[in-house]
Amino acid sequence: TKRLLAPDIAAMKRRGDPIVALTAYHAHTAAIADKHCDFLLVGDSLGMVMHGFETTVPVSLELMIMHGRAVVRGARHALVVIDMPFGSYEESPAVAFRNSARVMKETDCGAVKIEGGKSMAPTIRYLVERGIPVMAHIGLTPQSVNVIGGFKAQGRTKEEWVSIEEDARQVAEAGAFAIVLEAITEPLAERITASVPVPTIGIGASPACDGQILVMEDMLGLSPRVPRFVKKFGKVAEVIEDAIRDYAHDVRTRAFPTPEHTYSMIDGTPSKTRR
Ligand code: KIV
Ligand code: NA
Repeated sequence: TKRLLAPDIAAMKRRGDPIVALTAYHAHTAAIADKHCDFLLVGDSLGMVMHGFETTVPVSLELMIMHGRAVVRGARHALVVIDMPFGSYEESPAVAFRNSARVMKETDCGAVKIEGGKSMAPTIRYLVERGIPVMAHIGLTPQSVNVIGGFKAQGRTKEEWVSIEEDARQVAEAGAFAIVLEAITEPLAERITASVPVPTIGIGASPACDGQILVMEDMLGLSPRVPRFVKKFGKVAEVIEDAIRDYAHDVRTRAFPTPEHTYSMIDGTPSKTRR
């Protein structure tokens, strides 16, 4: 099976097929998720999940490229989308193109994602016209956490509703092939999903969206703290700790390693070591 492209994801909305997505940051988990997902997002959430930053703001282009290359190598079927990090695209369409083109050339990913609505619509158009498929991201845009004042649900007042609906309209009009809706109410997600021709991908944005995405470590039950919109489908933190506890016990009691984990000589052991 060949790898999905951005237009294949867009076409799923017309067929009414739910779009399944997860974040992925490294090769082995990407290979597993690839069997079940339509696209994998190398999210800049990797700054928080993999590197312990408080927000996504410190994430560099080089870090996104490094993880992006790992995920592209691990996945063979899913479209790989890479987040453009804070500071790499906002200044101008030309800067956005230079950095997005670098991401695509150095990783061989199939699309990039940028945060922002109305203000980023001209940039989205500029990139798409020059061969870069763009996924938009509106509602809660974590790279703006310092302006917003925290990670909180958006569009809960009529004024914010109108503004986010306009964001969706403009990014779709500019040529985004899909739109991530993060942390917005169900009626707003329903309205946007019904009014734009491209798929909406929800994260904390209700079942009204055309598809869903979660941070893999959150849904696996690995992340220590998760937002209320996360369902934990696994208990990976417990699985890891049980294994590490057993390992530490076996080393301390000298129960590990045993002969089956140990090399032996090919031609026998010398009876006495000469010097
Ligand atoms: O960085 C991220 O993980 C995202 C999401 C949409 C989950 O942008
Ligand atoms: Na992100």
